Amino acid sequence: MRITDTADLWWKNAVVYCLDVETFMDWDGDGCGDFAGLAQRLDHLADLGVTCLWLMPFYPTAERDDGYDITDFYGVDPRLGTHGDLVEVIRTANDRGMRVIADLVVNHTSEKHPWFRSARSSKDSPYRDFYVWRADPPPDTSAQVVFPDQEDSIWQLEEKTGEWYLHKFYRQQPDLNVANPLVRDEIAKVMGFWLQLGLSGFRVDAVPFLLETAGVDEQEAAAFPDPHQYLRALRALLGRRAEAAVLLGEVNLPHEQQAEFFGGPDGGELTMQFDFIAMQAMYLSLARCDAAPLADALTARPRISPDNQWGTFVRNHDELTLDKLSEDERAEVFAAFGPEARMQVYGRGLIRRLPPMLAGDPRRIRMVYSLMFSLPGTPVLFYGEEIGMGESLAAEGRLAVRTPMQWTSGKNGGFSTAAAGRLPGPVVEGGFSPEHVNVADQRRDPDSMLAFMRLLIRRYRESPELGWGNFEVLDQPHPQVFAHLSSWDDGALVALHNLGAEPCTVPLTLAGCGSTHRLEDLLVACSTPLTEDGSVELTLEGYGYRWLRVVAEDSRRLV
Ligand code: GLC
Repeated sequence: MRITDTADLWWKNAVVYCLDVETFMDWDGDGCGDFAGLAQRLDHLADLGVTCLWLMPFYPTAERDDGYDITDFYGVDPRLGTHGDLVEVIRTANDRGMRVIADLVVNHTSEKHPWFRSARSSKDSPYRDFYVWRADPPPDTSAQVVFPDQEDSIWQLEEKTGEWYLHKFYRQQPDLNVANPLVRDEIAKVMGFWLQLGLSGFRVDAVPFLLETAGVDEQEAAAFPDPHQYLRALRALLGRRAEAAVLLGEVNLPHEQQAEFFGGPDGGELTMQFDFIAMQAMYLSLARCDAAPLADALTARPRISPDNQWGTFVRNHDELTLDKLSEDERAEVFAAFGPEARMQVYGRGLIRRLPPMLAGDPRRIRMVYSLMFSLPGTPVLFYGEEIGMGESLAAEGRLAVRTPMQWTSGKNGGFSTAAAGRLPGPVVEGGFSPEHVNVADQRRDPDSMLAFMRLLIRRYRESPELGWGNFEVLDQPHPQVFAHLSSWDDGALVALHNLGAEPCTVPLTLAGCGSTHRLEDLLVACSTPLTEDGSVELTLEGYGYRWLRVVAEDSRRLV
């Protein structure tokens, strides 16, 4: 492996940034964010150091699930702009060194999609078999619904034809029948279409649900090739159509099952997957001020192909799900970071952003982002995290964290000149409102969260060992300290994170190092020599964090 490889397998040390065009920047003043507004803000993202934008669904939608209920897979929601405006964004982003990926939501359509309108109207519709139907009354499936506050069955009776259709999400999102080869052809065409317009891949929505054939007619299911072979075929299609494009999959399953969605240790299926397990373990570690849960989750990751990658994140656009923790563990995290019922959803997640969860403590907030960027994987940011935005519990459910981006301290946080009532959601109020948290002020402040994020990103990008390297948890005596080493090629980086509020001194011994090595801090100016046997004592403030490059005397690396 060489440094030049990092340009080829770009996703191995990318910085992904997720945003919804609708809530990012409104340029025409109608209250809804648009592609023209996003284009005006690409330089903010490039300046931050982002290398890949992930656009949440921008397709025509019936708006039941914030764009995840699509009525036309080939369209652009006219409120956001046109195909031309999208292409302008992709082209301009590319010029600034950023790739663009978008949500591929093909587990289901909206009930308003012409396919479903036709399918539901008659058993003889040519689109009937695009969806999954059953003729006999369904059993109790209340345990299988994804949104338990709104649904109590994954089957919905269609009065007109007297049969039930399958929907794992809202009833307005009928599941597509992936066992039907015509549906698979359509999915391939949809992917091909957007790749042709310049996308560099997709964030694939709800992958395990997409591939599942439970409920599908037995004969048809039997004719469907192994779902993993299908995923492999999609990946191959992607490779043929667009060089170096990626599939970043949403697979919230235990690590062993995620391994299968990568295609095992040899890869060939999803290029990347979010590490939901490590994310949840991180919150347990934070709640307990104990590094063990996170260390255990990371060291238990299955082996994956060197071409594949984990996506690390602090939160995404959905509820901060804690579904893979035990009930007691989840209760601990709830108690620490979201004790009130209105902060929780579905009995499994939190609808808060990190800064309010940590009571706005800047040391602790920065420590968490420093930790995230130092973990093995590719960091995925959710818009607004770079300035420490909070949530609005006045918005419904998951929309609490999808409030308008805060650009200035002015009206509507500079997101739009329209009347507040026309915006897609409420602007955050209180201590995290635009008056206190906005891009314009932070751009001018060298001590701001934004400046800190920029520094983290720069150091992350300069340290390919983080995305590529071998990962090792280092032995040291403090349970509240997460100490790890990433090494790759001839580079090595030690990162220390103190999850506790008390300062401490961390003794370390670095195998293979001696007095010809020193440790260079990457986040502050400081240099620490190692002793003959490679040992050193490093101090950490309460919630302190340090990134230390291991530098040999004769190293030619720029530090
Ligand atoms: C995924 C998305 C979520 C959406 C659901 C249904 O889980 O992340 O936002 O509601 O799929 O499409």
